[in-house]
Amino acid sequence: MKRGRYGALGLAALLAVGLGFARAKATDVPTVHDEPHMEMTLHAAQQPGDRARADAILAGARAVMAKYPTVEAAEQAGFTKFLPGIPLPIEHYTSRQYALEAWGGHFDPAHPTSLIFQRTGATQQLVGVMYTAANSVDRDGLDARVPLSFGTWHRHVDFCRAPPGASHADRFPPTARFGFAGSIVTRDACEAAGGKFIPLVFGWMVHVWPNEKTPEKIWAVDMNGSMEHGHMDGMVGTTFAGLPIALNRLPSTSVAAGDATRGATVFAQNCAACHGTGGRNGPDAPTLAGAGLSAGQVAYMVRHPKEIDHSSEMPVISLDDRDLADVSAYVASQ
Ligand code: HEC
Repeated sequence: MKRGRYGALGLAALLAVGLGFARAKATDVPTVHDEPHMEMTLHAAQQPGDRARADAILAGARAVMAKYPTVEAAEQAGFTKFLPGIPLPIEHYTSRQYALEAWGGHFDPAHPTSLIFQRTGATQQLVGVMYTAANSVDRDGLDARVPLSFGTWHRHVDFCRAPPGASHADRFPPTARFGFAGSIVTRDACEAAGGKFIPLVFGWMVHVWPNEKTPEKIWAVDMNGSMEHGHMDGMVGTTFAGLPIALNRLPSTSVAAGDATRGATVFAQNCAACHGTGGRNGPDAPTLAGAGLSAGQVAYMVRHPKEIDHSSEMPVISLDDRDLADVSAYVASQ
């Protein structure tokens, strides 16, 4: 992530939480830290009253989502897109006012720091909200806001900001050294590489996915019940190392020569929601760019995802032959 990018965030408030007050890190919060740049609270045993409190938060989240159901409505109410200019599969629209309130210690289910939209092609659908708290808030403070028996508070840690001019390879997987997917996790290594080390990026965050059907999924870290913070990958890379179905196991089917330029649009509309922009960094699916896939293999996967992987989460996507040829040419060209 380039220096200067953050300047455009409209999220200075949140960033200040991370940068300026990093030393106020509360130490009594029981967390796991099994992703290199993520720390999350441990699930706590349910206490009397937790369910009622969780239900009240959920009702508040639903009410606020009903109030700002579209990007237009959200923007009118002062929510602005995080990382403007980069279309992400999962978009956070953040209210500076609510972020500051949260930072000031206030918690109100009707005032989420961010509204979360899921992008599918050109459309964005409201799927959840994010509440935040300052890094200095301790275990009981987090629990008082959103019970630890329901929500999973998390924060981004040990971030090495890339120096100006850092190469693409240093910023993007699989070779990234900097950023949310970077291999650098210590101050010494970061400074030696010319980066700026940020021990705590932003503050504590918790997501709520009110459209989900079960409490596990409603209160999961990420969409679809995931306890990994996959959607963050949309910003810089992926946690998938390599293809789940090895290249030499993926059959090929014959497909007409396609137009890769046109295929980019087909991809953006049908595939990017899972595989990420340009197939580079999906919230829900592996990186395709640079994987060495042939057009025939891409076409095979699009037509027969369940034949090679019975439990594949990739749906059959109905594309006509021209779209199939073009999208296959596009992925193979990446
Ligand atoms: C709903 C999410 C989703 C969408 C949409 C989607 N995919 Fe996938 N795709 C997956 C998942 C998950 C995998 C991982 C392999 C698996 O689960 O079988 C995958 C795997 C693949 C693979 C590689 C298989 C391998 O591991 O070797 C290719 C190629 C692929 N997808 C192409 C596409 C193309 C092209 C589109 C759009 C036309 C697309 N996908 C749309 C979820 C999706």
